[in-house]
Amino acid sequence: MPTNIATTIADARRAVAEARQRGLSVGLVPTMGALHAGHLSLIRAARQENGFVVVSIFVNPTQFGPSEDLARYPRPFAEDVDKCRAESVDLIFHPDAAEMYPDGHVTFVEVHSLQEVLCGASRPGHFRGVATVVLQLFNIVQPDAAYFGQKDAQQARIIARMIRDLHVPVRLRVMPIVRESDGLALSSRNQYLDAEQRKNAVALSRALQEARRRVEQGERTAAVLVKLLTERIAATPGAVLDYAAVVDEATLQPLTRLAGKVLMALAVRYGATRLIDNTVLEIRSDS
Ligand code: PAJ
Repeated sequence: MPTNIATTIADARRAVAEARQRGLSVGLVPTMGALHAGHLSLIRAARQENGFVVVSIFVNPTQFGPSEDLARYPRPFAEDVDKCRAESVDLIFHPDAAEMYPDGHVTFVEVHSLQEVLCGASRPGHFRGVATVVLQLFNIVQPDAAYFGQKDAQQARIIARMIRDLHVPVRLRVMPIVRESDGLALSSRNQYLDAEQRKNAVALSRALQEARRRVEQGERTAAVLVKLLTERIAATPGAVLDYAAVVDEATLQPLTRLAGKVLMALAVRYGATRLIDNTVLEIRSDS
């Protein structure tokens, strides 16, 4: 099957309806394009688990703050199409902003408490934009399963909660972080880094790995780990810490002592480029 491209909601709905008539299950991979191996891992999971795979490519304006990189966000659409073809994607949904947000659009989804912390603290309104566009995509495609990356841990938690709270009939699949050989988590924003920043960007994954080892060796005090992460970033040339957090993986609230599923997360600026990374640990109550 060739890869089709729909730019309107009506065309996307028609293509999905045909697939459904053929009895195929539908998997959706929401993206903003500039596809890299992280995105491809989601597409491959969707391909494995579904008869019909939809990749949305939409740089969603409502999730960018006024001083953020909406205008310069990379949009290599022709290359993205080639990558989707190579992965046997069935449908690319590539609407423009007016299709998703026609004049008079005033309805937004907010996932309170989860949206205000971590990245939400320095990017007010970001997750409101994410939750809104993802619910729109769910309503347009009506997938059986939707694929997200653990790279954006808070985003994945927020989508999970939205699905639960709004009774959205979709199965959420969260896939592991894909990394460069030195450990840097793949991101469409890595291409903003100059050579020096790129070299120093390995600090995030290194610091998280070190913190992880400390937990494996028995450290249970969150403040000690936050201090370690903070110091490692402070010692990295050109790196400015946005946050270092050790939180409960489900509630995203800060922990005092580590217990249960723990998310350790970092956001760091290199010049104008903001990078995030994280790791999840499961602390068994007897350890
Ligand atoms: P985008 O940044 O393009 O990411 C699309 C999906 O790819 C997200 O689920 C993200 O977590 C996943 N991803 C990115 N880098 C990854 C990596 N290194 N390993 C594994 N998965 C990775 O996230 C968005 O777009 C948008 O907010 C979106 C959900 C599309 C809503 O606009």
